[in-house]
Amino acid sequence: MIALASDHGGFALKNEIKVLLDEMALAYKDFGTDTADSCDYAVFAVPAAEAVARGECERGILFCGTGAGMNYTANKVKGIRCIVCSDCYTAAASRSHNDANMLALGGRVVGADLAKMIVRVWLETEFSGDERHKRRIAQISSLEAGQPAPNVRQ
Ligand code: RB5
Repeated sequence: MIALASDHGGFALKNEIKVLLDEMALAYKDFGTDTADSCDYAVFAVPAAEAVARGECERGILFCGTGAGMNYTANKVKGIRCIVCSDCYTAAASRSHNDANMLALGGRVVGADLAKMIVRVWLETEFSGDERHKRRIAQISSLEAGQPAPNVRQ
């Protein structure tokens, strides 16, 4: 299950991505917003991010005007590693290197065709599982848990 959420700035792009997910036969849950009326992105980002953090949704895709507000908000939820990106290289590396579990896209930044390429590569790329990447992600998790910042240079 893929969690989706948008504000008004990402509403149209979210609907485009639903078409792609239908084509890919991937199930999704839309946490809103449900109209193009102006709204606050955090209202919709938090429940979607919490569903991913709880494991109810394996991944999540967020949409606002730039992706920035959604990205900031999602990354405040413990266990979320959200990437905002507008290119396929970052989308792939965010999965293989960073094990990103959420993706934020800007509806005013990327067109529908590019966004669909980004989403497809992001969904289809697996985490490499390399030890160096696992170590770096563990450092982020420790920081999130209130542990001191890593200070050993490697
Ligand atoms: C809304 O105008 C816009 O600020 C929002 O969609 C998003 O881009 C914020 O990061």
